[in-house]
Amino acid sequence: MSLEVIVLAAGQGKRMHSTLPKVLHRLAGRPLLAHVLAAAQALAPRRIVVVHGHRGSEVRAAFAGAGIDWVEQAEQLGTGHAVMQALPHIDAGAEVIVLYGDVPLVHADTLRRLADAARGGLAILTAEAPDPAGYGRIVRSPGGRVERIVEHKDATDAERAIREVNVGFLAARASKLRAWLAKLENRNAQQEYYLTDVVALAVADGTVVSAVKAADWYEVSGVNSRHDLALLERAYQNAGAKRLLEAGVALADLWRIDVRGHLECGRDVSIDVNCVFEGEVRLGDGVRIGPNCVLRDVAVAAGSEIHAFSLLENAEVGARCRIGPYARLRPGASLAEEVHIGNFVEVKASRLGAGSKANHLAYIGDAEIGSRVNIGAGTITCNYDGANKHRTVIEDDCFIGSDATLVAPVRLAKGSYIGAGSTISKDTPAGELTVARARQTTVPRWKPPKKV
Ligand code: UD1
Ligand code: CA
Repeated sequence: MSLEVIVLAAGQGKRMHSTLPKVLHRLAGRPLLAHVLAAAQALAPRRIVVVHGHRGSEVRAAFAGAGIDWVEQAEQLGTGHAVMQALPHIDAGAEVIVLYGDVPLVHADTLRRLADAARGGLAILTAEAPDPAGYGRIVRSPGGRVERIVEHKDATDAERAIREVNVGFLAARASKLRAWLAKLENRNAQQEYYLTDVVALAVADGTVVSAVKAADWYEVSGVNSRHDLALLERAYQNAGAKRLLEAGVALADLWRIDVRGHLECGRDVSIDVNCVFEGEVRLGDGVRIGPNCVLRDVAVAAGSEIHAFSLLENAEVGARCRIGPYARLRPGASLAEEVHIGNFVEVKASRLGAGSKANHLAYIGDAEIGSRVNIGAGTITCNYDGANKHRTVIEDDCFIGSDATLVAPVRLAKGSYIGAGSTISKDTPAGELTVARARQTTVPRWKPPKKV
């Protein structure tokens, strides 16, 4: 039996108060719809059809090349109407799962349970809501069989007291779904074609309806407002924090870490509060991250320390390095082992060899730096002439005095010693002291000016 997935994503999301379509709002750095599609893709379905509407071209553009079939629902006449738009694109013999694009934390396992429960009949996903207001309620017979779903706006007080709610996801054979949808009417409080009415229609024609209960409320909660989104973000981050702690990572505070991507940690890694990890980040054994650091697509080798307020992006840090506080590694920064990058030092598209140090206030861009090089405070590689970027090469064991400006292209041969305050625009010889600044003079018998 082939499985196909329909994702409903045509809603505007009025309560977000945003011009961005709701399913493009981000959770853990990725659009809501990306989370749903990832869960769907884990089931290896034959086809995924996304129903879009409001600002659909933006939604499609965000997922170009994702192997999705798009269907437009020009007017949002209800969830049942939305599924009707998608069905012509689905194989009649297929098992179909219907998902919502704004329920981002659903697990693939839960979807698998839902698909398995359908078995030629109809399966719906339900959950016990802490506060069921607004949701469709699951109405069961005295014997406990699912009879129908009633929308909050259509429900009686007695029905509103039911805490078991409709998550919105269901699974059924496409041919059956088509037959039920053809019978939908919009005579209800919202004058919409409710997908939820298929439950009563299935019961009426003798189809077995099974309810799969989700264990975790957050897993099946939808995003309707920024508040919902913020709550789900924290739930997602906290679940990730727990996994890190279980794997042996020392977190200073399990509520103050954000992973927007994938964080891989070795043994005895410690992470202080308010750090953000984006993209792919790898931290080797014993790495320590100070408070308020941001690491985006970075690998840090064993034993290195990143001190407070450092920003590292697309960079590689070797073993036993010391970075920060207040350091910035920009794309292409590559540090060998035991490199020190101190406060207010910026490194871009540069390699630093083992044991090299730039401890204070420096800019290193487009440079090739050897081992054991000492770069004094205030040193700048002048890599840009206004039109083109040029490289600076500093060979092993060079010593650059404070406040040097190195005008690229330039090469400092092994062991060059550069006097403080020099402007170096020509290559320097190995092992020699080069000074390029005006000589100090003292004016004899100088008198301060007098007021006239
Ligand atoms: C729906 C369910 C309700 C359930 C709740 C769970 C119906 C009638 N009600 O209510 O039982 O408890 O979800 O969150 O199904 N959408 C479209 N086209 C439309 C209307 C909606 O694509 O014409 C999409 C929305 O983008 C959204 C999803 O369907 O992803 C749910 O729509 P929404 O309006 O949020 O439904 P609820 O009223 O919350
Ligand atoms: Ca909703």
